[in-house]
Amino acid sequence: MPSHPDDVAIVYRNLQKYVGWSDFDARVIKELRGEIQPYFQAMIDDFYQTINDHDFTRCIITGGEDQISRLKGTLYQWLDSLFSGPYGAEFAWSRWRVGIRHVEIGLHQAYAIAAMGRLRFSINEAICALGKEQRVDAAAAIGSINKLLDIDLALIDLAYQRKAMEQLHVAAQEKVQQAERLASIGQMVTGLAHESRNALQRSQASLEALLLDIEDRPDALAQARHIQVALDHLHMLYEEVRSYAAPIVLEREEIDAEKLINLVWENLKPSWSQFQTQVEFHYRGLAPCIINVDRYRMIQVLTNLFQNAIEAAGAQGKIRCTVTCHGNSQVEVAIEDDGPGIADGVAKKIFEPFFTTKSKGTGLGLAIAQRIMEAHNGKISVSRGELGGARFSFQLN
Ligand code: HEM
Repeated sequence: MPSHPDDVAIVYRNLQKYVGWSDFDARVIKELRGEIQPYFQAMIDDFYQTINDHDFTRCIITGGEDQISRLKGTLYQWLDSLFSGPYGAEFAWSRWRVGIRHVEIGLHQAYAIAAMGRLRFSINEAICALGKEQRVDAAAAIGSINKLLDIDLALIDLAYQRKAMEQLHVAAQEKVQQAERLASIGQMVTGLAHESRNALQRSQASLEALLLDIEDRPDALAQARHIQVALDHLHMLYEEVRSYAAPIVLEREEIDAEKLINLVWENLKPSWSQFQTQVEFHYRGLAPCIINVDRYRMIQVLTNLFQNAIEAAGAQGKIRCTVTCHGNSQVEVAIEDDGPGIADGVAKKIFEPFFTTKSKGTGLGLAIAQRIMEAHNGKISVSRGELGGARFSFQLN
């Protein structure tokens, strides 16, 4: 993609060859110049009238009448140089810059092409009028000018393509930087989790001994139990970090999806009974729905999704779990809640590691769920559900 004058000059020469541009064309157009100049003002007025008549182009002109009169001047020069050349490297670069300028101001490519069509029409019309008066050879003039306009149009198209490539490049670079940042954070956190594990185990052992010593002192026992809850929580965090960092090796087996889901839901009883959550299970398609998955990993995913749904739904909230079994191991599991839902900006980041909207937690639960689904060649996604809250679903193929 050209970005230097020399590159643009090469592209321009190639385009000239492609459309069959010759010295004859250059001569025809130069001879036309003096004759067609009186038509420029009408062409320019028509051009800016059309811009003004259409919302999509009018909104780009933000500087009012001043800008329009300046633009009319630049379009005059553009037309004049179109008919005077010389059609070499300098000309090519100035035409390319005009294309780039339109990309920069946010003019949609379709309107740049349509506007060029409008100019082409006005120019051809003027040539026909001159031809009728036998002041120019209209057939030759139309042939030559259209070659030149085609090359200009090709440059405009290239300018838009370059912009698109630049945007892709920037997005790819941002992704790499983000991955590098996450890799170093990941390494640091994994190291920290590993080092802290021994300390945590020692604390837990000491606490257990202490609990035995203070059995007859209820106040102290209550305090010590708080410490135990906090240590259990820390332990869980370490396990999550470890689980995210560790490579996923699946041990697949054939499992009845309904039984697995019931098991996970029952395991979460302490959470949902405390919230008095109402739940619905829907099983569609083939029964029994047999899936070929890693049991332990699938329990991790389902536990995470149900736990999130229970928390989002809150007291007496509603959860709906729908399993659609298409056969050939194609299964979709959707878990919806009637909580506040997930804002658009958050939905894009929700599977990123360490991203969390909760005050507790590592922000790794959904990132781990996504890794597990990917390891199963499956997909996990989030959207707004029919209950009004979030709908997390995963597909297995
Ligand atoms: C394809 C046909 C077009 C041609 C030949 C053309 C020509 C030009 C030229 C020669 C310039 C000056 C470039 C520079 O600053 O270096 C320019 C700038 C500009 N054009 Fe066009 N234009 C076209 C289409 C359009 C359309 C459809 C719009 C719609 C709004 C538009 C809006 C503008 C604006 C806003 C600027 C920047 C003005 C500034 O810097 O203040 N152009 N155009």
